[in-house]
Amino acid sequence: MEKREEGVNEEGAAAAAAVEAAGEAEEAEVNPWEVSGKIDYDKLIDKFGCQRLDQSLIDRVQRLTARPPHVFLRRGVFFAHRDFNEILDAYERGDKFYLYTGRGPSSEALHLGHLIPFMFTKYLQDAFKVPLVIQLTDDEKCMWKSLSVEESQRLARENAKDIIACGFDVTRTFIFSDFDYVGGAFYKNMVRVAKCVTYNKVVGIFGFTGEDHIGKVSFPPVQAVPSFPSSFPHLFNGKDHLRCLIPCAIDQDPYFRMTRDVAPRIGYHKPALIESSFFPALQGDTGKMSASDPNSAIYVTDSAKDIKDKINRYAFTGGQDTKEKQRLYGANLEVDIPVKYLSFFLDDDDELEHIKTEYGSGRMLTFDVKKRLIEILVEIVERHRRARAAVTDEMVDAFMAVRPLPSMFS
Ligand code: TYM
Repeated sequence: MEKREEGVNEEGAAAAAAVEAAGEAEEAEVNPWEVSGKIDYDKLIDKFGCQRLDQSLIDRVQRLTARPPHVFLRRGVFFAHRDFNEILDAYERGDKFYLYTGRGPSSEALHLGHLIPFMFTKYLQDAFKVPLVIQLTDDEKCMWKSLSVEESQRLARENAKDIIACGFDVTRTFIFSDFDYVGGAFYKNMVRVAKCVTYNKVVGIFGFTGEDHIGKVSFPPVQAVPSFPSSFPHLFNGKDHLRCLIPCAIDQDPYFRMTRDVAPRIGYHKPALIESSFFPALQGDTGKMSASDPNSAIYVTDSAKDIKDKINRYAFTGGQDTKEKQRLYGANLEVDIPVKYLSFFLDDDDELEHIKTEYGSGRMLTFDVKKRLIEILVEIVERHRRARAAVTDEMVDAFMAVRPLPSMFS
């Protein structure tokens, strides 16, 4: 009798095949609140009107920062941009910029997908030595999820600890919650933006309907205005022409399409963006890892045993379902989640290539690929857990204090 290869999961295979079939029929959905279907990232670039991040830009980043490009750049995880070349042009002339990214605190724990933009932003901050603002949209999540104001604020602080654990430099980083910070210069910019956007326009961009409450309809300016330096007078007073670069996954693009449309009309620079694809769900490459389905995601709070069980039970594999067949036919790397996850988190290019060749040709088994992935993810999550445990309430207060940043550009 043929021996079933350990770590291969029939349920996962059937589910992924069904999703794949459905995905072919359905158009993929990508917006800030829903990512589903099989995403064709080339088509998405055309549909959204952004630009592909090509090798010449990556080479330029390497040259300007005098350090190797981040693994997420080398592997094409960050694959699209808007005006990133202009940020680099300005940087080359000696003009600095600032970084802006964010998190909508809808759950206690972040999953690995949420860490992607923060890990990448940390690299950009270190490489370019620039200030960073991080928006916690507790108001957004209070309006979209059934969360009270108080609960959203609590989650924002909890999530801030995970973000700080990514290693940001407190002398260059301002983290703010909308409930605490919106007002003053920030609010003036919100009103400037709101006056330029018609109801028809937000319906076109975000798909709101007459049933959506007006909180949702009025929210987009809140996420738009951190793109403008004058929203942060305690940081950028008098530096109204400082450019802004936003690292995020491509689901956030609609907010910034709106922002870029409005910016010149109110006398500001358009923000530039550098956008990633999605860290996929364990079940397959048809959407993003989602916080609402615990078995689709690896959380930063998962134990080593949780990670092992999830990878072994749920990670959809392109390997064959028996050892014999695997030796004969090899794995389909295109659909294999362990290989996809390794391409995000295995830094060593040679080892990744070796695994792909051996596994693709059938000399390596799914079990061994999953074993290596489990080792890597356990290490990342353990490291994160230790770093988060060291984040005190005083540190959160320090990052969130409205204050000038001592080493903004040095
Ligand atoms: P949120 O909390 O949904 O997501 C936080 C950041 O994680 C990215 N992301 C992912 N990246 C890769 N793979 C995934 N599976 C995945 N899931 C989420 C998101 O694109 C985001 O960058 N409204 C925002 C908060 C926000 C924001 C911003 C984000 C406010 N201002 C500026 C980016 C830039 C939100 O709810 O993100």
